[in-house]
Amino acid sequence: MAKQRVLSGVQPTGNLHLGNYLGAIRNWVEGQHQYDNFFCVVDLHAITVPHNPATLAADTYAIAALYLACGIDLNYSTIFIQSHVPAHAELTWLLNCITPLNWLTDMIQFKEKAVKQGENVGTGLLDYPVLMASDILLYDADKVPVGEDQKQHIELTRDLVNRLNHQFGKPDQPVLKSPEPLIRTEGARVMSLTDGTRKMSKSDPSDMSRINLLDSPEVIRNKIKRCKTDPVRGLVFGDPERPECNNLLTLYMLLSGKPRDEVAAECQDMGWGQFKPLLTEAAIAHLKPIQDRYHEIINEKGYLESILRQGKEKAATIANQTLQRVKIAYGFSLPTP
Ligand code: TYM
Repeated sequence: MAKQRVLSGVQPTGNLHLGNYLGAIRNWVEGQHQYDNFFCVVDLHAITVPHNPATLAADTYAIAALYLACGIDLNYSTIFIQSHVPAHAELTWLLNCITPLNWLTDMIQFKEKAVKQGENVGTGLLDYPVLMASDILLYDADKVPVGEDQKQHIELTRDLVNRLNHQFGKPDQPVLKSPEPLIRTEGARVMSLTDGTRKMSKSDPSDMSRINLLDSPEVIRNKIKRCKTDPVRGLVFGDPERPECNNLLTLYMLLSGKPRDEVAAECQDMGWGQFKPLLTEAAIAHLKPIQDRYHEIINEKGYLESILRQGKEKAATIANQTLQRVKIAYGFSLPTP
């Protein structure tokens, strides 16, 4: 039986942090043998907020290199850059024309980002989820491994599939396939180091709020030393009154690879002064091999470029077939050969 298909992506905006890694990339790596995987760097999404043209290309390559450094294996997975496959933008237009405007204005992430931007919110920001739906649907993806914050966008993707199939498909012959989110319970929502009630995020103005995958040991030590805790002795999972405690214990569990019960027993009588060095060393040790490999890859530009060229070819072949299917269903005239 053919393997199920997975598609996911990360925006090349700033550095990747532990939220991106534990919520998404780590799960791609762990599940990749089971699926036929496509992982893209979503550079068209990165321009939905003001961006720097001088760094966009380098940031895009850096994310592709990080995918490989984190353990994406080309025997099981294809890596490519979203803007290299024009079908993504084209399907977005076709989907736009059947998307009710209020579906987009209702999106939580749009509302949050629009508030941050104040006036002059771009149309691209509103349309962001439709581009994301195109990413997923072009590959007939069965599963989309993401963090908790993307769940609503995948629900919108499913709603778009139903709408399109209803309007343009036949009952026994759907045009597009409905994807399912793949969200782990642990690590799906990594919280800020400076406020345990807020998500760790690239757009937080304070770099102290996150641990980036490429942070040096000194920087990691300093961030954990100064991160927010609480005055209670004895560290426990799952106390809603102690969001920082739950977040830091979860980070320790995931980065050390120890089972939850073992971490709970190890930390139940600890104070923060004893716990913080443990978390620091687990984070540094976990990230070291990723950082070493990243530096090797990023210094071999030709190697990375050839991977992305091959990725583009493979992705475009599949994407163009799906695009063609949608255009035929919509009733477009196709160019004669
Ligand atoms: P982006 O770049 O904002 O985030 C990339 C991935 O990281 C996850 N994530 C988190 N997980 C746990 N805790 C956090 N604090 C945290 N912050 C971010 C996100 O859930 C995401 O999985 N719209 C997507 C990019 C995208 C995409 C796609 C994803 C575009 N097209 C198609 C899947 C399929 C995003 O916001 O990425």
